[in-house]
Amino acid sequence: MAPADLPQALNLSTSANWNQTEEDWRRILHLADCFCTELDGQIVASASAMIYGNRDLAWIGMVLTLPAYRGRGLASTLVQAALDHCSDVYCVKLDATDLGAPVYRKYGFEDECVVERWSRQPSSTSCSTELTDGGEPILDLDRAAFGADRTALLASFPNICSTGDGFAMHRPGRQSAQFGPCVSETEESARLLAGWATARNSSNPLIWDLFESHPKARQLAHELRFTPARRLLRMSLGGKNVAEDPSLIYALTGFEWG
Ligand SMILES: CC(C)(COP(=O)(O)OP(=O)(O)OC[C@H]1O[C@@H](n2cnc3c(N)ncnc32)[C@H](O)[C@@H]1OP(=O)(O)O)[C@@H](O)C(=O)NCCC(=O)NCCS
Repeated sequence: MAPADLPQALNLSTSANWNQTEEDWRRILHLADCFCTELDGQIVASASAMIYGNRDLAWIGMVLTLPAYRGRGLASTLVQAALDHCSDVYCVKLDATDLGAPVYRKYGFEDECVVERWSRQPSSTSCSTELTDGGEPILDLDRAAFGADRTALLASFPNICSTGDGFAMHRPGRQSAQFGPCVSETEESARLLAGWATARNSSNPLIWDLFESHPKARQLAHELRFTPARRLLRMSLGGKNVAEDPSLIYALTGFEWG
C-alpha cells in the first residue's frame, strides 16, 4: 500500500466502523509495512505488520476485507504475506476480533489474554487536572513494559503528558478520541495521567484499551466513568512471548499497535 492509497485505506476501516483517521493510516504506512488486495479497480482488503526493536516483536494489524469481498480467502492471503514478511522476527502478536480470530488460528496463533475497550461519553461536568501537556516518553520504562523498543511509534503521537513515574498519550480518532498508551510505575501516576486525558477531552467520547487482567487499570477506568464496550483476544504465534511487564501498562496503544 502506498500513500496515494490513503483514501481507499480509510474507506476499508470506516466500512468496518473502526476509529482510525487518515492521519492514523498515514502513520501506519510510514512506520509499518502494509499489504493490500486490489480487485475491480479498488482496494478491498488490507493487513499491516509493525516490526519493533531489533526484530524482537512484530504486530499484525489492520486486517480488513470490505463486506462484499469476505469469505474468498483475501484476509488469509494478506495475513500470510504479513507473516512471510516477519519470518525472522522472534515473536508475532495481534489483537483479534471475533471475526479475525478464526483466520489467525489457522496460522498457529494461540490465545494469550483478553483485552478490553472501555469508553466514556462526554460529560456535562468538566474534569480538572493537575497536569499539562508536554514531556517525553520514558523509554526504558516503556521497553520494560512492552517488551520491545517502540521509540519511533511513541515519537509519532502528538499529545503527550509525562510525570516522573509514567507517561501517556491522548490521540484524536474518527469517532472517539483515545487515551493510550499509558505506561506507569505507580497507580497514582496512572490516575493523574488518566485524569489529564479525560479533562483534555470534554466534548468527545474517549476510548481506553486495557488488559482485562489489570484490576488497577479497570478500577481507574471505572472511577472516571468509563464502561466496557468491546473485548478482543490477544494472540501470539506459536505461544512465543517477549519479556514484558503488563502490570506497567495502564492503557494499550490500540489494537493495531499493541
Ligand atoms: C476478519 C475478516 C478480515 C476476514 O476477512 P475474509 O477475507 O472474509 O477472510 P477469509 O476469507 O480469508 O477467511 C479466513 C478464514 O476464516 C474463516 N472465517 C472467516 N470469517 C469467519 C466467521 N465469521 N466465522 C468463522 N470462520 C470465519 C473462513 O472460513 C476462512 O477459513 P477457511 O480458509 O478454513 O475456510 C473480515 O471479516 C473483516 O474485515 N471483518 C471486520 C474487521 C475485522 O474484524 N478484522 C479482523 C481484525 S483482528
